[in-house]
Amino acid sequence: MSNLVPVARQLLSKSLAYLPTPTLGRVPQRYQPHQPIINPYQEEKNLTHLGQRIITSLEDRWAIVGMTGSGKTTMAKKLLDHLRDAYPAARVYILDSKQAGDFDDVDGYRINDEIAPDILRTPGAVQIWQPPDDDLDQYDAWFKKILLHRQPAIIKVDESASIINKNGDAPEYYRKLNKLGRAFGVCLISLTQEAAYIPRTLLGQATHIVRFRLLDGYDVKKIDKLVGRPKEHHGLDLPDPYGFIHRRVDKALPGHYYKNHQEFFGG
Ligand SMILES: Nc1ncnc2c1ncn2[C@@H]1O[C@H](COP(=O)(O)OP(=O)(O)OP(=O)(O)O)[C@@H](O)[C@H]1O
Ligand SMILES: [Mg+2]
Repeated sequence: MSNLVPVARQLLSKSLAYLPTPTLGRVPQRYQPHQPIINPYQEEKNLTHLGQRIITSLEDRWAIVGMTGSGKTTMAKKLLDHLRDAYPAARVYILDSKQAGDFDDVDGYRINDEIAPDILRTPGAVQIWQPPDDDLDQYDAWFKKILLHRQPAIIKVDESASIINKNGDAPEYYRKLNKLGRAFGVCLISLTQEAAYIPRTLLGQATHIVRFRLLDGYDVKKIDKLVGRPKEHHGLDLPDPYGFIHRRVDKALPGHYYKNHQEFFGG
């Protein structure tokens, strides 16, 4: 017994550094912080009714085509209002390469720099990017930031002719957003004056096509076919100045003619 006392003293006098270092194993999954919620607006639970017949979600891609002054921007702004009401946490990114004052009444962060702006930190915020020139690399960098952020968003490209290259296609990350954005609830709305300027990727991936009045041309017939007009009507003008045909293309539903956006949205 008396032998044990010095041993105990010796042990107690040793610094704690002599204690074995605990080894940290992999923290089990249940103790890890929660994964961020990817798309809180999954389509199956978050469909939105626009007007009487049209159903949409943040997973949709809209191609809106029509000649200058046909009402595209006006209609797309109403669409944006509806989507923002339905999905208030979605960030809104507007690319306004035309800078004709169409978004002066929209409340948001305005950026006039040529460098792609950063993603929005606040859910529900609005960014209006009005770059001085069309720089496809910067557009690509912008789309990339939005995709990598992986948060619900609405992207509106007011003139898709600005973002396409000479092969008629859009930058890599725009194409990726078209393909992958659904998982995060990234909705794309692209407008253009001529059917030829609809990015090729978008034509393949669009869920909604809206055809306003168009100048006659080869591509007009192509669009008329897509929106389900009977063959004998291909290329024919529409009867009202702000009228358009809308078709949900991914569900192979028939197209419908609306005399203006008021009739479409039921307002
Ligand atoms: N349904 C409507 N009823 C009355 N006026 C409308 C309607 N839609 C658009 N307008 C008016 O027509 C004008 C042109 O509309 P808008 O700017 O939407 O056209 P756009 O297709 O975007 O043209 P651009 O290709 O030149 O940008 C605007 O002054 C707008 O207020
Ligand atoms: Mg416009």
